[in-house]
Amino acid sequence: MKLSVLAAGALLAGSAMASLDPIISYGSKFFYKTNGTQFYIRGVAYQEPSTSSSSFIDPLADISTCERDIPYLTAIRTNTIRVYGVQANNTHDDCVNAFADADIYIIIDLGSPTEAINRDSPTWDTSLYQRYTDVIDAFGNYTNVIGFFAGNEVSNTVNTTAASAFVKAAVRDSKAYVKEKGYEKGVGYAAADASSIRDNLADYMNCGTSDDSVDFFGDNVYEWCGDSATYTSSGYNIINQNFSTYSVPYFFAEYGCNSVSPRTWNNIEAMYGSDMEDMLNGGIVYEYFQDTNSYGLVSATGSSVSKLSDYTSFSSEIAKATPTGTVKSKYTPTNTALRSCPTVDATWQAASALPPTPDASLCECMYNSLTCVVRDSVDTTDYGDLFDYFYGLDGGKYVDGVSANGTSGVYGGYSMCSSKQQLAWAMNAYYEAQDGSSSACDFSSKASTKAATSATGTCSSLMASIGTAGTGAVSYTVSATGSGSGSSSSSSGAAFPVFSSTPIFVGNWQFGAYIVAAIFSGAAMLVL
Ligand SMILES: *[C@@H]1O[C@H](CO)[C@@H](O)[C@H](O)[C@H]1NC(C)=O
Ligand SMILES: *[C@@H]1O[C@H](CO)[C@@H](O)[C@H](O)[C@H]1NC(C)=O
Ligand SMILES: *[C@@H]1O[C@H](CO)[C@@H](O)[C@H](O)[C@H]1NC(C)=O
Ligand SMILES: *[C@@H]1O[C@H](CO)[C@@H](O)[C@H](O)[C@H]1NC(C)=O
Ligand SMILES: *[C@@H]1O[C@H](CO)[C@@H](O)[C@H](O)[C@H]1NC(C)=O
Ligand SMILES: *[C@@H]1O[C@H](CO)[C@@H](O)[C@H](O)[C@H]1NC(C)=O
Repeated sequence: MKLSVLAAGALLAGSAMASLDPIISYGSKFFYKTNGTQFYIRGVAYQEPSTSSSSFIDPLADISTCERDIPYLTAIRTNTIRVYGVQANNTHDDCVNAFADADIYIIIDLGSPTEAINRDSPTWDTSLYQRYTDVIDAFGNYTNVIGFFAGNEVSNTVNTTAASAFVKAAVRDSKAYVKEKGYEKGVGYAAADASSIRDNLADYMNCGTSDDSVDFFGDNVYEWCGDSATYTSSGYNIINQNFSTYSVPYFFAEYGCNSVSPRTWNNIEAMYGSDMEDMLNGGIVYEYFQDTNSYGLVSATGSSVSKLSDYTSFSSEIAKATPTGTVKSKYTPTNTALRSCPTVDATWQAASALPPTPDASLCECMYNSLTCVVRDSVDTTDYGDLFDYFYGLDGGKYVDGVSANGTSGVYGGYSMCSSKQQLAWAMNAYYEAQDGSSSACDFSSKASTKAATSATGTCSSLMASIGTAGTGAVSYTVSATGSGSGSSSSSSGAAFPVFSSTPIFVGNWQFGAYIVAAIFSGAAMLVL
């Protein structure tokens, strides 16, 4: 039967949309929308490795590889794949429909191996926002897409927790976009396996309002290593206990420690059996394709796939994953409260106040209003030195409107603009402070004056709220999601506090993030 569906799909050349019953979240569990049977993720991480650090392979763009791999995924009872990087402008109908025909759902990372929020120099800006919303549009209508991850393993130590403020802003804005477009998909986060920050991070992603907290929490957990590990020795018991009162679904967004090889997968019984089935919504095994880090279940080249020994052992253990589960009509969520936001202290450095929503038209209004801007001929690799200069100058007062500090929760209203726009803002602020003397717009011939377009209409009101110092914020209004859990409230985003102190990210300013993003997000995926 499946074959004939597949053939029909191929005949229609992707114009027909295969459809599966959508998966919804309710309380801290997933359910099939129509019949209310509980849904446990039996997932596989599915991202073909790229040989280049500056590019990646979209795993849902080539029907020949999808068709090649589906039988191998089906044979290990896969009902969900996780993909880490897609290209929004590719055509995905054939692969996504082929997965639907095989009863396989998909969870998609909104970042990519080359473009993501960088833990050491985090930003949530117009270019990432564009990528995220493009991916949401490209996948929002498929019934077998469960949802999206707004970040993967961004914070992984205490001193990278400030980056979580930017991730949470990405969660907030992705959720708002999904809702505005009516896609009915969840937006979650996939956390690094870092027990020192796990509880605080989980609290942070589930605090504030339901509009800016995650719809599900994925945790990359590699704590069960080798055949002698147990539910208790692995620490699964602590995770089970800590998340038993979490208000949204929790699952392993990656699992499969390989520090002891071959893997024997006796953790699967704990995950899907009586130990954890009430709390844990399944997991995603890392990973389908063999890569240099040796987590693969298969090695695949061209049209051929060979099963590795971990595939065979996984196959026999996943066969035993038969949780009893419940049905939606018999399930009353008891743990509906959001958690309290963690206090900023030595163990947690992300403020509850989040960065502003990226707004490309506001940034354009701002740029058009400037008189002194960076010259087009300046190479973007020179921006770093220029930013360093402004962050160091006069206590950093010329970058007030463009700097962002996730720990103090102080964000310039234009800190979400492009690096070029931000740099121009700083140059112009200095220039104006010198009363517009033409010699003040030079910076070793890196800047020049231009005619300013004074802001009118929408530009004028948006920019007025940010103010000439650049330290105000657009007041945004979020409304209730009513997703069955948590406090549903309507609230007005607070105006961001006035930036007052020292420069941020000196010598490590935001544009660097793009260049090193590939390295860091690659590492984020592979370093466990
Ligand atoms: C509910 O629907 C799903 C997907 O169609 C199916 O796999 C499952 O067996 C159904 N549950 C029951 C109790 O029929
Ligand atoms: C798709 O997007 C990528 C990245 O933005 C770009 O490099 C590529 O040219 C685009 N392809 C098409 C066909 O538009
Ligand atoms: C965080 O701390 C580690 C060592 O504890 C250090 O290697 C790393 O550079 C620090 N990162 C930042 C962003 O300060
Ligand atoms: C999604 O489906 C809706 C309703 O059919 C349609 O209006 C919209 O254009 C679709 N969006 C995309 C990006 O295909
Ligand atoms: C998690 O479990 C540990 C060990 O029982 C406990 O110390 C800690 O307080 C728990 N954290 C949460 C958030 O429940
Ligand atoms: C960010 O704010 C925190 C808390 O106010 C402060 O300690 C830190 O120095 C600031 N970071 C930078 C780079 O200015």
